[in-house]
Amino acid sequence: MRFVIDQLPGSKIREVANAGLGRDDVLAFWFGESDEPTPLFIREAAVKSLQDGETFYAHNLGLPELREALSGYVSGLHKPVAASRIAVTSSGVNALMLAMQALAGPGDEVVAVVPVWPNLTAQPAILGATVKRVPLQVRDGAWCLDLPGLLAAITPATNVLLVNAPNNPTGWTLARAEQETILAHCRRTGTWIIADEVYERVYFAPGNAPGSNCAPSFLDIAEPDDRLVVAHSFSKSFLMTGWRLGWLVVPAVLMPALGKLIEFNTSCAPVFIQRAGLAALAGAADFVPGLVSRLKNCRDTLLPALAAVPGVTVAVPEGGMYAFFRIAGHTDSLALAKRLVVEAGLGLAPGAAFGDEAEGWLRWCFASNDPMRLAQGVERLAKFLRL
Ligand SMILES: Cc1ncc(COP(=O)(O)O)c(C=O)c1O
Repeated sequence: MRFVIDQLPGSKIREVANAGLGRDDVLAFWFGESDEPTPLFIREAAVKSLQDGETFYAHNLGLPELREALSGYVSGLHKPVAASRIAVTSSGVNALMLAMQALAGPGDEVVAVVPVWPNLTAQPAILGATVKRVPLQVRDGAWCLDLPGLLAAITPATNVLLVNAPNNPTGWTLARAEQETILAHCRRTGTWIIADEVYERVYFAPGNAPGSNCAPSFLDIAEPDDRLVVAHSFSKSFLMTGWRLGWLVVPAVLMPALGKLIEFNTSCAPVFIQRAGLAALAGAADFVPGLVSRLKNCRDTLLPALAAVPGVTVAVPEGGMYAFFRIAGHTDSLALAKRLVVEAGLGLAPGAAFGDEAEGWLRWCFASNDPMRLAQGVERLAKFLRL
């Protein structure tokens, strides 16, 4: 096996989840998904497709009608994006890996804004690239970008900037002015930007971007031929985590490479899954605002309750579906998360899973169909800390 693969750390979130194996009394908030199943109208579209016998290979870049529908959806939220610049992928993580395969290889330099979902930084490492980490900073309890530090890190030797905003796990979101400065800088250094915007619709401060309920996106400000790749997913905005469907927006120059890479990775996304994606987009205007308001309700239930627990420091996230917090006196997040599972029946993700920069923090996914579960979880935490 290649040394680099051997050296990849295992998932610390799984490690915590394994501590609760065989128990059905754990309130689990460790994974990044809602406990609400995919809406019926989306599931029905997949069932119909299967019943119609759509069980064959399809286009590498996605069904033409899905690429058209994505073009309409993305253009409705941002500047117009032609279907010819959109590729359908088998999940958001697959979209990110394809982008990285196209843009970075052995000896290349990738600058990543961290802490971040660990898959993002593992991908360039797997491909043999060097990852330079630029940490977010905590100011007055909230995570912020060190913009001068980031600009200093991106030089003409930097092949790719990797940035995820709204950010998993911190909830930090890039401001429009920061995006403009970063884009201008990357144009000067010739650096590609891979923007992971899978949480763009899970955003609680509308009015900042042309589309409502949408975080600022690089797609609002970039030109079609900018060195910009934006990765998206159906997982979060349509409750479709288990379906594995996503898409990429890329400049035209990257499309031929992407077609080949999709052929050699997955060949295509399954047609019945793409039909479900089409149904999701057709229902987006009716479904997404309701989902976001339910998630906001969850956030607004969890955050004040959590903040009231003695010793807890937590900032209100602008986007994403996580409360990221720390508890005074606790510095080893993996050990603490395991104790919480075993002793309190509470399942959280350890900050260390997202990089050394997040050691000492805990991530709580608040996407729940039942806000009462969140309140019960906080009670368990408070009781654990009192003992
Ligand atoms: C920041 C970020 N990017 C991408 C993904 C990938 O989503 P999926 O592969 O489910 O489409 C996730 C999933 O949790 C994520 O948190």
